[in-house]
Amino acid sequence: MAEMMPHTHIIGTGSSIPNRILSNKDLESIVDTTDEWITRRSGIKERRISSKEAEESTTDLTTQASLKAIEMAGVSPKNLDMIVVGTVTPDRQFPSAACMVQEALNAQNGMAFDVSAGCTGFLYALSVADNAIRSGTCGTALVVGVERLSTILNWKDRGTCVLLGDGAGAVVVASTREKGGILSSHLKSDGSFWELLYSYYGNSYTPEILQGIDIKPFQLSMDGNRLFKQAVKCLSSIANEALEHNSISSDDIGLLVPHQANIRIIKAMAKNLRVPMERVYTNIHKYGNTSSASIPIALDEANREGLLSKGDYVLLVSFGAGLTWGASIVRWSI
Ligand code: COA
Repeated sequence: MAEMMPHTHIIGTGSSIPNRILSNKDLESIVDTTDEWITRRSGIKERRISSKEAEESTTDLTTQASLKAIEMAGVSPKNLDMIVVGTVTPDRQFPSAACMVQEALNAQNGMAFDVSAGCTGFLYALSVADNAIRSGTCGTALVVGVERLSTILNWKDRGTCVLLGDGAGAVVVASTREKGGILSSHLKSDGSFWELLYSYYGNSYTPEILQGIDIKPFQLSMDGNRLFKQAVKCLSSIANEALEHNSISSDDIGLLVPHQANIRIIKAMAKNLRVPMERVYTNIHKYGNTSSASIPIALDEANREGLLSKGDYVLLVSFGAGLTWGASIVRWSI
């Protein structure tokens, strides 16, 4: 019976941001760019760059963000039935970032795996956990978005290296009979656009081919201009789909928490959706685009800043490599 179905509530949030700040001014001495250009075209003023030596590996950042979310949720790591991590920059090709953090948290009682969906990774991961909870196979889950894109950037390409940054965000979700929580998730992808944003190399290339080439493997390539137009279109349509599905209007949205890729993309989408910028959370000026980490970091900051109240409708919407895109509507539970 539908009313007996469990609902998935977010009961804790956490984030972890690397210490080292790289400002636009700093970037002026790395590539041919200016603070003025980066600020005007993207809204970014600075970003964080992680270092393994500073205990800011993907596993470290994930663990720190997760511990904060777990503490807020008041659950024991032993009670996590699922750990699902959205990332394209795990510390190792395998095992998954999720298994690495499972060990760090001493949370060996459930399943752990990663989801690769570019910047939409967190929303994909959240939807997987939500479906597992609704179907009754899972009671409590940890969902993380983490990225260390600085490790795969081409630091000679001014078109990309100025836009991205590192960080992690996490939520704990739990099954309850109380209505609310994650109302619906809407996920899409279109692989025919994969060349708009991808990493060079990977397992399809033999190690020999890298010898003598003066570039690091996995470097990120992006067609920013085409991506920009695609992003505004896809974000607006998927957000509208989520609103219509739940029979709510954009006036009902307490806070729009979008993927932080470019302030101009965010403003164009908000305008299409008719959500005033006062109800749109942005922190892109501080962190740049942290890919799958951007929504959970923003959600955690908004939550800790007291911008979310129990019962508020929160619209999460994201877009990224794949291409992938998605939206979730959450009735806030904390
Ligand atoms: N500093 C100075 N000039 C730069 C620059 C930089 N960091 N990066 C690019 N430029 C130059 C270009 O070379 C180009 O010069 P040209 O006209 O002489 O060829 C000029 O600026 C305009 O480039 P263009 O790419 O048309 O600018 P834009 O207005 O599209 O802005 C982005 C560029 C990347 C900021 C924008 O396209 C964007 O944000 N796209 C989406 C990116 C994104 O969201 N990616 C992640 C998705 S999850």
